[in-house]
Amino acid sequence: MNSGRSMSVARHLSSVGWGTLRLEQRIVISKKLTSMLTEQVGYEFGASQFYLAGAAYFGRMGLDKWKQIFSEQSDEERMHARKIVDFLVDVGVEFDLPSVPPAKTKFKSPLDAVKAALANEQKVTKQFNDMAAAAISEKDFTSFQFLQWFIQEQVEEEAKMGKLVQIVGSGTDLYQQEDVGEEECEG
Ligand SMILES: [Fe+2]
Ligand SMILES: [Fe+2]
Repeated sequence: MNSGRSMSVARHLSSVGWGTLRLEQRIVISKKLTSMLTEQVGYEFGASQFYLAGAAYFGRMGLDKWKQIFSEQSDEERMHARKIVDFLVDVGVEFDLPSVPPAKTKFKSPLDAVKAALANEQKVTKQFNDMAAAAISEKDFTSFQFLQWFIQEQVEEEAKMGKLVQIVGSGTDLYQQEDVGEEECEG
């Protein structure tokens, strides 16, 4: 797959008179970041699975707005995984996709589900911080720059899940809170 892409890039470069430019001169990211980012693809797909499991849980309870919040979050996590895959393809490193762990669709309570979501987001924030620290120590500024988007995104993700924990933790009747759920979906 990669070699096909490289061929077309090579053809393009020769058509614009850059035939002597060697493709090995492309940007190279560190091996450590390559492996950490590849692992992260699995964590993002894992997060997508987790939110889909939460969507199933809320759906089963007849809480459709909450189901929607979790479904949309599941799609967002998938988008995160794709963003990393696109980056790894663009920098031309070799990688395989990691396996995705199974996710239970049962939670003790809605509070348990949203608390688990917040805990997962906090874990992901740490993963991106660790990657940023590794990128600096490896002097891999390309990866470091790429990670900035995710570090910023995690602020939003943690805030979003924190709000859900607050709402559910307030002891409010979730069946009366469907409008609040809608507001969260738009955020
Ligand atoms: Fe994510
Ligand atoms: Fe997330």
